[in-house]
Amino acid sequence: MFSRYKKPGAGKPNQDGAPNLQTVQGGKPDATTAAPTPKKPAPKQQAVVAARAAPGDKERKRKARIGEIKVEIHKELLDNLNLAALENATEKELRTEIIAISGETLEKMGVALNREERQQLNQDLFDEVMGLGPLEPLLKDDTVNDILVNGPQQIFVERDGKLQLTDITFKDERHLLRIIDKIVSAVGRRVDESNPHVDARLADGSRFNAMVPPIAVDGSLVSIRKFKKDKLGIDELVGFGAFSEEMAAYIQAAVACRLNIIVSGGTGSGKTTTLNALSGFIDDSERILTIEDTAELQLQQTHVGRMESRPPNVEGKGGVSQRDCLKNALRMRPDRIIVGETRGEEVIDMLQAMNTGHDGSMTTIHANSARDAVSRLENMVAMAGIEMPLKAVRNQIASAVNLFVQASRLQDGSRRMVSITEITGMEGEVISMQEVFRYERLGLQPDGKIIGRFTATGVRSHYSERFRQWGYDLPASLFEPVAAE
Ligand SMILES: Nc1ncnc2c1ncn2[C@@H]1O[C@H](COP(=O)(O)OP(=O)(O)OP(=O)(O)O)[C@@H](O)[C@H]1O
Ligand SMILES: [Mg+2]
Repeated sequence: MFSRYKKPGAGKPNQDGAPNLQTVQGGKPDATTAAPTPKKPAPKQQAVVAARAAPGDKERKRKARIGEIKVEIHKELLDNLNLAALENATEKELRTEIIAISGETLEKMGVALNREERQQLNQDLFDEVMGLGPLEPLLKDDTVNDILVNGPQQIFVERDGKLQLTDITFKDERHLLRIIDKIVSAVGRRVDESNPHVDARLADGSRFNAMVPPIAVDGSLVSIRKFKKDKLGIDELVGFGAFSEEMAAYIQAAVACRLNIIVSGGTGSGKTTTLNALSGFIDDSERILTIEDTAELQLQQTHVGRMESRPPNVEGKGGVSQRDCLKNALRMRPDRIIVGETRGEEVIDMLQAMNTGHDGSMTTIHANSARDAVSRLENMVAMAGIEMPLKAVRNQIASAVNLFVQASRLQDGSRRMVSITEITGMEGEVISMQEVFRYERLGLQPDGKIIGRFTATGVRSHYSERFRQWGYDLPASLFEPVAAE
């Protein structure tokens, strides 16, 4: 074995031909291994320990033991495989090699595993060598949206809007750090004590963030927002109960009539998903430019230019901010500009773009309501160092933004558009707004699911005339509240 992919000169066998392997505690005595073996507890003592162990305990111990074996074999693989040669190996070749090496090593260790355990072990080893170790099955699991790692022993996943603790763990912090390093070095980034956090996009499009010790106190923190190849469209969102059909019809008209739209919401509330779905209503003939910190949007139109900002390197050079991209985008003859998330000084250029002929632009913002979103915009303008009286800032916002779509993740894990609010102008110093649609909570089912419904608020849209002029004659019934049951 170790034939084609063996490192030149690596893994020199001992005199008896066995690889340099230490027998793991608890394995059968291995007469053929010449390497010194750690002292094992006397067999009698072992039997007593086993007898006392509860069945759950036994299973845990076996799992831990398989974990130890895996580490040993993995070490063996890393020592012996020629990783450079592996790049050209097919998956099948590598699997064959791993099966052979692990089989050989297990035999030497005198460890007997059943078929299932053996298959799992080989899969785990493959994931370690080629993939992201314990994270690999979670990355492959389509029901998982987010993966959240709090140190080596705790991995949470988000499924259906709910966080769940998994029984998957890393061996220790070093193992976790090794995987983080593998991820970030693949995208040309670095993370270490002097540069302890990184935000990156993985090769498959997933969003990745890591913070390592000493800033992360109890072990490295990792969050992965998995990339969905098939983004949810408006129809699916309506199907999931995220929008009502009336809201979808309204939004379609709003996008087609080039209203400037801000999707606001909390973290993970579905802002990017909604923005992506809204973009589906843009006409295929338009030139769209997108700007994001981490490219997540997937527009279906033909004429799309995508930009992704870049943080400065370790020397503080080479950074290209969203603002830089936006300024440049304005010179690139866009029909529409979509900024993934406005969170800083780019707000100035975004508002200006919306005010100066690039109407129909869209972005998302981190806020809990439309009012809150306006305050956030005001704050961002102030933080960007623009000395402007508050009234002038509000005037800018009121004439730039037409409507807010509020996304929310409710306590039962469902994600819904809980409000659509229009900006109607200024009244004195205050921006006036009106809510056109909202989600009303009516109660709670015994299983914790929220009972609620979407309804129009009964106000006539401020943009009715514009909709009509653009050929979207929305029926008056669309804006009538749902009758109470
Ligand atoms: N209505 C929905 N129904 C089911 N899943 C949804 C819905 N909206 C979004 N999701 C899923 O929820 C996850 C988070 O969505 P998204 O990335 O759009 O949130 P976000 O508000 O942009 O998050 P962040 O604040 O981290 O940028 C994604 O995996 C997405 O596929
Ligand atoms: Mg987002």
